[in-house]
Amino acid sequence: MTLTREIKPGVKWVGAIDWDRRLFDALIPLPEGTSYNSYLIQGSEKTALIDAVDESMTDVLLSNLSALGIKKIDYIICQHAEQDHSGSLKRLLEIYPDAKVLGSAKCLDLLMHFDLVSKQRVQEVKDGEKMTLGDKSLQFIYAPWVHWPDTIFTYLAEDQILFTCDFLGSHLASSDLYASDEALVYRAAKRYYAEIMMPFRQNINKHLARIEELTIAVIATSHGPLYARPRFILDAYRDWASDRVKNQVVLPYVSMHGSTRIMVDYLVDALISRGVEVKRFDLTDYDVGELAKSLVDAATVVIGTPTILAGAHPLALYAAILANALRPKTRYASIIGSFGWGGKMLEQITVALPNLKLQFFDPVVAKGQPKEADFQALDRLADEIAAKHKEDLD
Ligand code: FEO
Repeated sequence: MTLTREIKPGVKWVGAIDWDRRLFDALIPLPEGTSYNSYLIQGSEKTALIDAVDESMTDVLLSNLSALGIKKIDYIICQHAEQDHSGSLKRLLEIYPDAKVLGSAKCLDLLMHFDLVSKQRVQEVKDGEKMTLGDKSLQFIYAPWVHWPDTIFTYLAEDQILFTCDFLGSHLASSDLYASDEALVYRAAKRYYAEIMMPFRQNINKHLARIEELTIAVIATSHGPLYARPRFILDAYRDWASDRVKNQVVLPYVSMHGSTRIMVDYLVDALISRGVEVKRFDLTDYDVGELAKSLVDAATVVIGTPTILAGAHPLALYAAILANALRPKTRYASIIGSFGWGGKMLEQITVALPNLKLQFFDPVVAKGQPKEADFQALDRLADEIAAKHKEDLD
């Protein structure tokens, strides 16, 4: 089976839809699969391929190129060395012996270290460099740290298509070439932003400002549907990467014998009654991607944990380590939970969050089952959170 789709005359999608993949980087759940978008650009003189799909889909890419009767590729533009963009390079270079691999110096270095290409077959491109394919021309735009240091975008001026690699993408297997169901793609793109892009907010804002100078009719990402209405995804990214936070509390928690759970229930109700939106996650059964997504906008995170083995529950520590790695713009934090005879639960959670510039509210920790004084402390915590949110949002 083959599948190729025309974007503009001489520009085709020739990638692979991975309907069944359920995990990425041995970390990120892919509940809706993904796609590895690869693009063939045929100019009047030269032919270029942008990105080279995951190794598991090499045969799909090769079949698509074969179905189009492609006998010669002059350039394989590797926008990013990660294996889901470069996995089929080795086979491609065998089948297309004239092809040169183009990329940033960092990308080419990585590809050589991954043993995907030899020094003789690579050609470095510089930031802003232009290259002609005859009646079509490509410009390369360096876009480091979304999410590796090697990434470039590629702009096809004649067709006003910007190829943005991982940036602005989504893990979404779909029969739609374009993001026609924007509500669906918004959710998938926000989740993808949270899992992959969020730690690089400052770079994202720089890249958004730079591509603002281009006239863009289509944004062609390396994962998920393309955007024929670029404003949709650019506005979403501007919002997510801004410093603005929302009146939301993210509350990941774990409870062993029910004490922490009682406190979580109480705090959730206290926050709701004060007009604060709450996103609550039971850490014994949750989706990492949904937790990451909830951190994109939230002003506050409260971690709920019992004490075990003289410290925080490992699931709560994992959530803290994850939040720390994702570097959300969250401003406030607190810890609630319980203990039987003591431990270093508070210190462990606090030191796990060094990347976040957090202001901590007083923790609420109950000995065993929460008592009246603990519920009063939870009310005070809810008051403080609601007041801070009001201050920030007004
Ligand atoms: Fe699509 Fe960074 O890999």
